Amino acid sequence: MEPSPFGAGAPAGEGLAGKVAVVTGGGQGIGRAIALRFAAEGMAVVIAEIDPEAGAEAEALIRSRGGRCRFIPCDVSDSASVRAMVDRAVAEFGGVHVLVNNAGIAWAQGDPLDDEAEERWARVIGTNLTGAFLCARHVAPHMRAAGGGAIINIASTRALMSEPGWEAYDAAKAGLLGLTRSLAVTLGPLGIRVNAISPGWIEVSAWKKSALAREPELRPEDHAQHPVGRVGWPEDIAEACLFLADPRKSGFITGQNLVVDGGMTVKMIYVD
Ligand SMILES: NC(=O)c1ccc[n+]([C@@H]2O[C@H](COP(=O)([O-])OP(=O)(O)OC[C@H]3O[C@@H](n4cnc5c(N)ncnc54)[C@H](O)[C@@H]3O)[C@@H](O)[C@H]2O)c1
Repeated sequence: MEPSPFGAGAPAGEGLAGKVAVVTGGGQGIGRAIALRFAAEGMAVVIAEIDPEAGAEAEALIRSRGGRCRFIPCDVSDSASVRAMVDRAVAEFGGVHVLVNNAGIAWAQGDPLDDEAEERWARVIGTNLTGAFLCARHVAPHMRAAGGGAIINIASTRALMSEPGWEAYDAAKAGLLGLTRSLAVTLGPLGIRVNAISPGWIEVSAWKKSALAREPELRPEDHAQHPVGRVGWPEDIAEACLFLADPRKSGFITGQNLVVDGGMTVKMIYVD
């Protein structure tokens, strides 16, 4: 091993340039920001996305900036679709080193007693939790072949706190934290680190596909309720992903949940 420039015992090794990342749901929102950030770092990026318009747009955007990118249609809740996406990614770029399980749906509000409750539960758990498991399962053999890698699960502060009617979403996100811990222990011996990021309030309206994109409409009180004084942006999550993907920066971190919420979940609230 090369001596570390940071001092004896500190991690050395390759950076992320030239590595291959799969970002699920990378067509818009937080996933698009992660894909753009990875591509700017010199990584080849696969956008595994169910919405063809969003996927094609994100691919074109990254390529227009000189990045390497391929949109591969995928439904993360379907094992055959995930396997086909991973096979295509490996055929195109030669392997996979980083997986970001970002795809998620927030169709979660509703009384658990209403008529749609079971359908909602199945869809939300299928995409937000089972989807991450399927992607990890199909990508891990390729990471092992590459000598290791990093998996990042995008959970939510709703894994830790709740509002009424969010049962399916909150259970899926809390389940992701358990999955993160378990996969970290199982895949550690293969050189694969597994961590979660729990975003708080992230304003994604400007990062949607062009048919849906709009200027954010945020009130001063929206920003003020965060200890850092502002609502979060997709770029905040992208930077955290970059940190957790890079073994030189986070090589001793696995099985953890990094809360990126401007301090909202640590703020105690009393109402007079
Ligand atoms: N925006 C927030 O405030 C916030 C906060 C906490 C956590 N999150 C989480 O971050 C992730 C991204 O959220 P976002 O706000 O950017 O959402 P978004 O709706 O803007 O983007 C999600 C993307 O995932 C894709 N997708 C949905 N189902 C899919 C499937 N089955 N297969 C493949 N792709 C699929 C969608 O087409 C979309 O492009 C989600 O997991 C969400 O739960 C978001």
